[in-house]
Amino acid sequence: MRIDKLLSNMGYGSRKDVKKLLKSGTVKANDEVIKDSKEHVDPVNDVVTVHGEVVEYKEFIYLMMNKPPGVISATEDNVEETVIDLLEMEHQIFNPFPVGRLDKDTEGLLLITNDGQLAHQLLSPKKHVSKTYYAVIEGEVTEADVKAFKRGVVLDDGYETMPAELEIIKSGLRSEIEITIVEGKFHQVKRMFEAVQKRVVYLQRLSMGPLNLDETLELGEYRELTDEELDLLKGR
Ligand code: URA
Repeated sequence: MRIDKLLSNMGYGSRKDVKKLLKSGTVKANDEVIKDSKEHVDPVNDVVTVHGEVVEYKEFIYLMMNKPPGVISATEDNVEETVIDLLEMEHQIFNPFPVGRLDKDTEGLLLITNDGQLAHQLLSPKKHVSKTYYAVIEGEVTEADVKAFKRGVVLDDGYETMPAELEIIKSGLRSEIEITIVEGKFHQVKRMFEAVQKRVVYLQRLSMGPLNLDETLELGEYRELTDEELDLLKGR
């Protein structure tokens, strides 16, 4: 890989900035100064340093965000704030994108990565990756709803959902529940409750496959996945 590409991918500025940096003689590969921006290095095996500091090369980034309400799950938008806008520049430079969508008003676990292959696996309808949500429901959620969700309910467009697990945490005029679904239709949880004449008034995603929301993350905060989480996610 060209040294200028590596350095600009790792956040050392534009190709032009990197060219200047190289000219200044502060970049070394295996202790030899590199000044030519066209020179190639092996990003995995060569030790590249800038001002004596080792440049850790990585191709992919994996972030867990506790998505706040009011931002949209997109990479860019002319009007709305996006989850990518909430990232530090050092993470934005990887061009990450959210894996699937949470509605603007939905909170909770959102995976953000630039690993298209992993995203594809998690989103593929064939893989039935489970997603668990906590929700507050206007209306009394009953055992009849638990049974209906287990069988599958018919949404407003005629689609019959796959079996979903519904657990009632608190039943009343405002109920609290947890629901696990294995598909990801548009507004799925909200539409499933509409199918049983109830309304979701708060929705938070708690998990996606083996990945659980880190409850120490405040709304809008994020962190890189641990190696353990990444292994679980990749089924290693
Ligand atoms: N189901 C919904 O209705 N909204 C979400 O954001 C996620 C699942």
